[in-house]
Amino acid sequence: MPKDLIAAYNRLAVDYDKNRGLFDMSAVLNDFYQHIKIDNGNLLDLGCGAGEPGPGFFISKGWNVTGVDFSEKMLELAKKYQPEMHRILADVTEVDFSPGQFDAVTAIYSLFHIEREKHPLLFTNIYNWLKPGGKALFTYACKEYTGKNEFSGYITFMSEKLYYSHTTPEKLYKMLKRIGFALLSADYRDIGGERFLWVTIRKPG
Ligand SMILES: C[S@@+](CC[C@H](N)C(=O)[O-])C[C@H]1O[C@@H](n2cnc3c(N)ncnc32)[C@H](O)[C@@H]1O
Repeated sequence: MPKDLIAAYNRLAVDYDKNRGLFDMSAVLNDFYQHIKIDNGNLLDLGCGAGEPGPGFFISKGWNVTGVDFSEKMLELAKKYQPEMHRILADVTEVDFSPGQFDAVTAIYSLFHIEREKHPLLFTNIYNWLKPGGKALFTYACKEYTGKNEFSGYITFMSEKLYYSHTTPEKLYKMLKRIGFALLSADYRDIGGERFLWVTIRKPG
């Protein structure tokens, strides 16, 4: 990890994209937007994949979107679907942005591929990149998906063995609080036959 994950997503990109419609994000995105309530903001999407549906949703509302992904093949698709999105080919744990640059940060079905030991630094970075009052939405892996309270290992998804990592929701919330985030919502959602935890947090201000 992550070289094997990059290779897996490069192989998966076209098929993943063809099947992306099976995972309906409309409720997730509309609920998150209710928390934001601004037009024409700046969004950072971590693990943006093919730029759908998250970046597309925000672009259609007049937002500037920056998408980061380490899969070249995913970003090629994103270029086709969201030519306006600023694309960065990089590992999200290695990028850096100016403090207070973004109104919102999303990480949809992506952050669960990152070792949980790296989450405190990544969330600290997200905190710094957000404007005061900025919000973030992310998908978190949980026992209902991996079968364990805490997990780091491989699970087969669309015939590829992918790395997943998570701790318990309680430890996650504690860590987010320690960094300074307020927890706005944490909902288990069943989407496309998979159950994950969907978390919305806010930087005070
Ligand atoms: C399941 S796909 C989700 C893509 C998109 N967010 C969506 O909703 O369809 C996970 C994406 O996260 C990317 N990814 C996973 N770990 C990453 C990391 N550490 N840095 C950059 N991209 C990563 C993968 O390349 C892949 O495009």
